[in-house]
Amino acid sequence: MQERIQKLLPGDYPWGELYEYHETLGSTNDYLKVLAKNGAPEGTAIMAGYQTNGHGRLGRSFHSPEGDGVYLSILLRPGCAPTDLMHLTCAAAVAMAKAVEHACGFAPGIKWTNDLVVGRKKLGGILTELGFTPKGQLSYAIVGIGINCRQRQEDFPEELREMACSCSMIAGRGIAPERLAAAMLFSLHQMSQTLLTGKEAMLDAYRSRCVTLGKEVSVVRGEEIRRGKALDITPDGGLLVEFGPGEIREVSSGEVSIRGMYGYV
Ligand code: BTN
Repeated sequence: MQERIQKLLPGDYPWGELYEYHETLGSTNDYLKVLAKNGAPEGTAIMAGYQTNGHGRLGRSFHSPEGDGVYLSILLRPGCAPTDLMHLTCAAAVAMAKAVEHACGFAPGIKWTNDLVVGRKKLGGILTELGFTPKGQLSYAIVGIGINCRQRQEDFPEELREMACSCSMIAGRGIAPERLAAAMLFSLHQMSQTLLTGKEAMLDAYRSRCVTLGKEVSVVRGEEIRRGKALDITPDGGLLVEFGPGEIREVSSGEVSIRGMYGYV
C-alpha cells in the first residue's frame, strides 16, 4: 500500500518521503502526536488500514473497519498563533471535498463543521488537534481524516447503515483507497500552502459547499438543545445561528454539535 500510494502521488508533491502506511494502529492521530512531540517535520503523514481506537470530535469514537476506509493524519507546523488557526477544520473540509471530487467524480457537501456528507448520509469526518510548547505557543497541528471508501451499504453496522455512505456507493463503482488517499495528501499539501494567506477564498468555498447554512438546526450543548436557523460561517469557522428575533449568536465547534431538524443532516 505504501508504494502504491507513493506511485500515485504527483511528482510535485514534496512530502512523499514523509508518508507511512501501517496495517493497524490505535488511532493515526494519536500515533502522529507522538512523532510530532519527537520533532517530526511538517508533512509527516500516517495512514492505517484499520484503527482499533479511531476517534472523532467531542470524544466520540470513529468506526474504522479494515481495508474499507481511508484513515489518514497529517502533521502541520504553521508557525502562527493558535488564534490564527481557528479556520483549520474548515480548510481541511474544503480540501477533502476537493480530493473526493477529484478521485471519485462527485462533490460531497460539508455539514458544519467537520463532516463530509452526501444527501442525508455521512461520508467522512475530520478531527484537528493542536499541540503547544510549555510556553503556550503553537507547536503543531494534526489533521486527521476518515473517509468511507469502498463499503457497500450492508458492510456498515446496523446502527450506522441509515446514516452512512461510502465513495464507492455514491460513485457507483469501486474506488481504490490508495487513489483516494493520494488525492487527499495532494489536496492537504495545497491547503497548507494557502492556509494563512487564502482564508477568505477558502471560507467562500466552504460556504458554497456547506449544507447546514439556511437550515433549521438543533444546537446540542451537553444536555441543552436549542433550535435555530444557521445563517453564516464566521471568519473563525464558527456557525452564526439565529435562535429567535434579534438573538443571533456564534456557536463554536468545540462546544456544540448540530442536528438537522429531521435527522443527522
Ligand atoms: C468525526 O467524525 O467527528 C471525526 C472523525 C475523524 C476520524 C479520523 S480517522 C483518522 C484520524 N484518526 C483518528 O483517531 N481520528 C481521525
